Amino acid sequence: MSDNNTEKEITRDDGSGLDRTLRPQTWEEYIGQTKIKENLKILLTAAKERGHAAEHVLLYGPPGLGKTTLANLVSKTLGTNMKTTSGPAIERVGDLAAILTNLSPGDVLFIDEIHRLSKSIEEVLYPAMESGVLDIIIGKGPSARTVQLELPPFTMVAATTRISLLSSPLRSRFSGGTFRLEFYADEEIATILKRSAGLLGVKTTDSLLSQISKRCRSTPRTANYLLKRCRDLAQLKGGELNEEIVEKTFELLEIDDLGLGQPDRAVLEAIIYKFKGGPVGLNTIAAATGEESSTIEDVIEPYLIRHGLLERTPRGRMASLEAHAHISKI
Ligand SMILES: Nc1ncnc2c1ncn2[C@@H]1O[C@H](COP(=O)(O)OP(=O)(O)OP(=O)(O)O)[C@@H](O)[C@H]1O
Ligand SMILES: [Mg+2]
Repeated sequence: MSDNNTEKEITRDDGSGLDRTLRPQTWEEYIGQTKIKENLKILLTAAKERGHAAEHVLLYGPPGLGKTTLANLVSKTLGTNMKTTSGPAIERVGDLAAILTNLSPGDVLFIDEIHRLSKSIEEVLYPAMESGVLDIIIGKGPSARTVQLELPPFTMVAATTRISLLSSPLRSRFSGGTFRLEFYADEEIATILKRSAGLLGVKTTDSLLSQISKRCRSTPRTANYLLKRCRDLAQLKGGELNEEIVEKTFELLEIDDLGLGQPDRAVLEAIIYKFKGGPVGLNTIAAATGEESSTIEDVIEPYLIRHGLLERTPRGRMASLEAHAHISKI
């Protein structure tokens, strides 16, 4: 403890803290994705009324659009606990068995990055999802035998940024539905930011919120991140948030008027300047920009495509006319 009264207590405020504190706690606070919300609420309420565990649900879409948040809302609605794990964390069949046998009836098992589960684990998962049993092989060679364990009824919610990597047998086991999260409209982002600003104690105006919402790649996590960076700069300048501070923050973070960051522009520039606008293969773009091809595919590309800046053709990626115009203007 410090005996200096002016020193402030330091509390955690890293990226995860940001997600935790600003994460919506109710369906009302969860803005947008109306169709998904409607479908999930029906699925969950009906299952709850019947006294059954709800069926398994798969959520997919680019990072930061609200998959984990939805999983939390599912378990809240069911009034049960949520156990969280992820594809890469389940290395052995024993890991999965330990998780599944520790569930209480009705619990939600959230598996993030489900596309990174190994094939052998997937195979154990099928009967667990479908019939609520776990087949475990004990021993090796001729003396090996299978033991079947009955599992408590549970609801699996899985999330992925890469639905294409999921095998079709696995996909087909999500009998409660497969839902794709969409990018958010600017007005939806502005509503999210309004709540965040309130929680963070930042004074804003509608026009400032709209200014930020246009630059966040239509992604709530990025919007909240930008709001916090604007707040930091305002604090250092000793005043409140204003248009100039917001612009200055974008400039410092190198976010352009379409909301693109340096990595987004690097991809477009590579296609335009090094490969004459394309078509060019993903791995070639990765090599030219130094980004992992999975990062390009999961994080960078979805927004560029949705914004009409990039096209995916059978022969590779191509920069659109808009992309040429945007990059040449910089
Ligand atoms: N619909 C929403 N309404 C309000 N805030 C949201 C919404 N969706 C996401 N957020 C905000 O964005 C943050 C990131 O969302 P979340 O962690 O659920 O994304 P994700 O899809 O799981 O991302 P990743 O693929 O990286 O795991 C949340 O903590 C929350 O603050
Ligand atoms: Mg998540």
